[in-house]
Amino acid sequence: MIRLAERTKLIAGSPTMKVTATVDKMRREGIDVIDFGAGEPDFSTPEPVKAAAHAALDQNFTRYTPAAGIVELKRAIAERYRQDYGVDYKENEVIVTAGGKQALYNTALVLFGPGDEVITHAPYWPTLTEQIKLAGATPVLARTYTEEGFAIRAKTILDAVTPRTRAIIVNSPCNPTGALISEADLSEIAEAAAARDIWIIVDLCYEKLIYDAVAHNLPAILNGKCRDLTVLCGSSSKAYAMTGWRCGWQLGPSAVIAASSALQSHSTSNVTSITQKAAVAALTGSQAPVRAMLDEYRTRRDALHGWLTSEPRIRCQKPAGAFYMFVDIGDLLSPDGLRTSSDFVDALLEESRVAVTPGEAFDAPGFIRISYATSMENLREGSARILEFAKKRAPAVAAR
Ligand SMILES: Cc1ncc(COP(=O)(O)O)c(C=O)c1O
Repeated sequence: MIRLAERTKLIAGSPTMKVTATVDKMRREGIDVIDFGAGEPDFSTPEPVKAAAHAALDQNFTRYTPAAGIVELKRAIAERYRQDYGVDYKENEVIVTAGGKQALYNTALVLFGPGDEVITHAPYWPTLTEQIKLAGATPVLARTYTEEGFAIRAKTILDAVTPRTRAIIVNSPCNPTGALISEADLSEIAEAAAARDIWIIVDLCYEKLIYDAVAHNLPAILNGKCRDLTVLCGSSSKAYAMTGWRCGWQLGPSAVIAASSALQSHSTSNVTSITQKAAVAALTGSQAPVRAMLDEYRTRRDALHGWLTSEPRIRCQKPAGAFYMFVDIGDLLSPDGLRTSSDFVDALLEESRVAVTPGEAFDAPGFIRISYATSMENLREGSARILEFAKKRAPAVAAR
């Protein structure tokens, strides 16, 4: 028997990626599937971004770059955050990473270790907790609730603090719930963290996808209250429809960035040189494509919400950000029918050819996550199939 390192026992493969793999397989077999699983924009990368990549290739910009990224991109990231949030980061406080995932991973590995507890809010994106475990630390969960729109509350997070708490990870807008943390709640957390020397890590992967004009200047709040204990992790993936390019970033105290750069220099090294040039164009060019995508997501969100909630047993609120509807299907489950959301998802795929992600993937049984990063036609057809499936497989009690 092959004996793997102990650390492999700590982690399971990404359940969200599993849905994507199943859909791929079915499509290769010629089966028509509507995919509501994908956690990525269906839009193409904006043309000026692609043009910058073509130019980089034509200019043979194809060699190693510094592990932490080219200066031009580090400056572009810092300038974007200065313009968007009014915060100031110097070149040695920024590193370019292979997606937001590596930014978070670097942070976990350079800050957490055995004996540490790291608090985050649930339902959560599973990579966050897996990375905490990979760093040898223990994830501690602060629940958020559907009745409160999954609001991320300071009190719940601070109630979980113990003398072993090393860090708090906040993901806002949140995947899977789409919820935001309020500035007031984050301020309260920041004050407590500063007093107790606890790190605050913010996953800003969906920062550009907020539908209403709500105040969400998390970087400024943290810079004001605990700059030396703050790490911001961002990404070009969702904002600029660049998931496959693999470009994210980490902003924080120079010691954290230097350690992350050393770590990266012995693992992945630099992000693809061509991608880095493309990311410069994305960050410094017109932000109009970002707004256009957001407008389209909003239209889809509203339509999807209307269709789904025409069935009273399907309960969901319109998310404030990101592009996921997190749907309570508890009323469609029963001991003598579909027992769990996981059963529901499997049967929905098998019988109605619609792929969604089960709440179990986010530590939220009884829910499903529907990604509306797909066309309106798909959303209309997929919702119709879900409603039909619900009627057939979970008939209303009176009709049984
Ligand atoms: C909450 C959250 N954070 C970070 C990421 C990382 O994305 P990427 O590595 O493509 O930037 C994702 C991707 O789905 C996500 O959902």
